[in-house]
Amino acid sequence: MCGIIGYVGSRPCQRLLLEGLRRLEYRGYDSAGIAWREGEVTRCIRAVGNLDSLEAALVRTADGTYASATATQPLSAGIGHTRWATHGGVTERNAHPHADLSGRFRIVLNGIIENHLELRDRLAADLVTLRSDTDAEVVAHLIALYYSGSLADAVRRSLEDLEGHYALVAMCEDEPDTLVGVRRECPLVVGLGSGEQFVASSISAFLTHTREVAVLKDEEIAVMRPDVVEVFDVSGLPHRPVSTEVEWDDDRCEKDGFETFMLKEIHEQGAAVRETLSQWRGSVDREGSGVLAPDRLRDIKRIIVVACGTSYHAGLAGRNALEQWARIPVDVEVASEFRYREPIIENGTLVLGISQSGETADTLAAMRLAKTQGAAVVAVTNAPASQATRESDAVLFTRAGLEIGVAATKTFVAQVVLLYELALRIAGANGARSEATLSDLRSALEDLPAMIDRVVASVDEPVRGLAERLALSPFFLYLGRLSGLPVALEGALKLKEISYVPTDAYAAGEMKHGPIALLGRETPVVCVATDRRVLPKLLSNVSEVRARGAQVLAIASDGCKEIAEHAEHVIYIPSTDPLLQVVLAVVPLQLFAYHLARARGLNVDQPRNLAKTVTVE
Ligand code: AGP
Repeated sequence: MCGIIGYVGSRPCQRLLLEGLRRLEYRGYDSAGIAWREGEVTRCIRAVGNLDSLEAALVRTADGTYASATATQPLSAGIGHTRWATHGGVTERNAHPHADLSGRFRIVLNGIIENHLELRDRLAADLVTLRSDTDAEVVAHLIALYYSGSLADAVRRSLEDLEGHYALVAMCEDEPDTLVGVRRECPLVVGLGSGEQFVASSISAFLTHTREVAVLKDEEIAVMRPDVVEVFDVSGLPHRPVSTEVEWDDDRCEKDGFETFMLKEIHEQGAAVRETLSQWRGSVDREGSGVLAPDRLRDIKRIIVVACGTSYHAGLAGRNALEQWARIPVDVEVASEFRYREPIIENGTLVLGISQSGETADTLAAMRLAKTQGAAVVAVTNAPASQATRESDAVLFTRAGLEIGVAATKTFVAQVVLLYELALRIAGANGARSEATLSDLRSALEDLPAMIDRVVASVDEPVRGLAERLALSPFFLYLGRLSGLPVALEGALKLKEISYVPTDAYAAGEMKHGPIALLGRETPVVCVATDRRVLPKLLSNVSEVRARGAQVLAIASDGCKEIAEHAEHVIYIPSTDPLLQVVLAVVPLQLFAYHLARARGLNVDQPRNLAKTVTVE
């Protein structure tokens, strides 16, 4: 979720780039850098840490020009970047912008180049020695390799070699008045000015300078010069850039035009899963030698998951995959209980501490306890450099980007897919499933990001209608079975967290053992009916609900005709493997909670009594 900014025009651009990066800070980063034209040369400053470190480095090295430059100059161009490390550690060397060997070409890149290892080998054969551990640097060298007088053509030719998803901006000393930007499944927008142009990951980076914006489509290449922006497709055919005037205020801009961070983050879930999956697969040390090495994974006898809240629900979803695919017994424990229970941890136990923040006191304490009892401990977290990363034997990073809304959404889906990937890896190591089965599951996982995007787009309106209609209901019961159960639990948690409406969630089969007493006429009951293995059972539970006069809102898979006879309202989601359906089925429930809370006029980003990071017991 790195941030990109670029400028071409006549204003000295160091400050402008820095200010743009500051407006992208909310995306999260661990290092930053800018490169800009100065006379005949390109200068570059990079720094680890926050933008104050970059600014300090700039002031130190810019001979005072940075502090005083306010006048216009004939030509100015530059690019800037905030980096959130994916490939390679947090070092100045790995920070962007990256250059080719001659230093004539500079690039900044957001996203992941999945085939970077293969490209590194190719470049090595051409005697190109890379200076960083990043996947991004290869792109600077490719552009240099393909350059024959046109930066746009060199970028276009390089795209043919790149696999993955990314947005990038390139500059070249031979064409000092030109920036070239392109995106594939990562955001990049152009800001059209008068005698100057901007390009960035988010409109907020340049909104104070222009409100005229052109959003690039996937694989469109923008060639930006001070007086003109041209757009081409990958074959070089010109496209008409479509621009609009943005009317957002600053606050809305920070949220990419969404009314709240939570809604923005719900919409970012496809990207969060995409990033998490490709980081996992493209990881340089995939076959690393630590506790995640194949021979260690093969010997795992038992897994204990410790977590709280939404992360606990992700653990429940992960358990289904770890048991079903990898055939490893899994216990999922509420961390605050586990830490005091004198648990028995046998040899061969792997403990997974799941925490988006990596700072949750109870989860950390449970991980510590497991470690003192000899277990191998792996953290699953969204926060690089968090406490959980320091206290574990290995770390699996979700790549959801910074989550600002207190209610976890995109970090949940990222956690679930990461646990699924782990299950597949263990299954590969211990032979619990055939290679053919594993490869089918892997490709089904790859389809998930686009499916999530589709679900978000298609269910938002109908779900909002339902939420508004039911906004005054005093109580909601959520039911699910098998893979639908963690979804029901998470849906109920979301609703109570942000709307303060009492909810309960149960395994549907448990209902007649108690919770059925809660049902009255019109009580809304939300049923997650996506796991076809138990559909007939769930439908008979639903019949029991309706016999008590309750109204049923069901989440079901496309093509599930039976559900229509059992529910007043049905929200359909695409059909895939039942376990994978968790990350699709949770979307309508997040949106339901969201719209219901909004209908009640509540602040969904900062619900009462809750904190994003719970560092106390
Ligand atoms: C989620 O919406 C909640 N804010 C909360 O349940 C959260 O999941 C829990 O506090 C655990 O946080 P962690 O993932 O940072 O450890």
